[in-house]
Amino acid sequence: MGAARGFGVDIGGSGIKGCPVDLDAGKLVGERIRVPTPQPSTPEAVADVVAEIVRGFDWTGPVGVTLPAVIKRGVAHSAANIDKSWIGTDAAALFATRLGLPLDQVTVLNDADAAGVAEIRYGRPDDQTGVVVLLTFGTGIGSALFLDGRLVPNTEFGHLEIDGHDAETRAAASAKEDEDLSWDQWAKRVTRYISGLEDLIWPDLVIAGGGVSKKADKWLPLLEVRTKVVAAELRNDAGIVGAALAASRGEGP
Ligand code: BGC
Repeated sequence: MGAARGFGVDIGGSGIKGCPVDLDAGKLVGERIRVPTPQPSTPEAVADVVAEIVRGFDWTGPVGVTLPAVIKRGVAHSAANIDKSWIGTDAAALFATRLGLPLDQVTVLNDADAAGVAEIRYGRPDDQTGVVVLLTFGTGIGSALFLDGRLVPNTEFGHLEIDGHDAETRAAASAKEDEDLSWDQWAKRVTRYISGLEDLIWPDLVIAGGGVSKKADKWLPLLEVRTKVVAAELRNDAGIVGAALAASRGEGP
């Protein structure tokens, strides 16, 4: 018998990526397809791309989709780095119609929650105990909170107000890039951010994800925080893997 498979699509501000996933190993099966996010990134335009990607594979079965948004029962309630018209959109119903799938075959969840679900399931076994928060450092800062491996969905810790600023505008990986900060300068901002967060939720472990976790050795050692911080084991594809896993479990926030 072959390995159990799922299908995940990860929608970001610049790219939409999808691929079948081996759910036993937590790995992509073959090459993912990536299509630039249409501009403006309206629900209709994005749904067309999602359908194009799924059609690109010989896939029948449940599909999981991430959005950089708060998602409750399939409906988007915020929209960061995607068109504001997502707010109030029943994303699960939209994708189900476009994919020709029954509603219970489509799961939509927040992008960082999906990455966290994948990390907890396929990463270090120790990460399944206690209060664990995964932070994705990218264009914004996404967060996924777990208690003993169980997700508390839709935390938006990237928007904590730190020193009068929306935290992600100062400490996301994009701020490092845009302001041409050194690792040292950026790590000071991340320290300030994580310190603010840990005073509020006292996690047992912080997992640093997002593209910049590939260079963890350059900045994790510079952090001066109370909580242990480790780099995510799964890298770029965590969102796809987590979406596929959530869909196979029939779970959605
Ligand atoms: C959004 C979150 C999202 C994160 C990462 C934030 O700006 O509010 O919903 O998870 O960016 O994309």
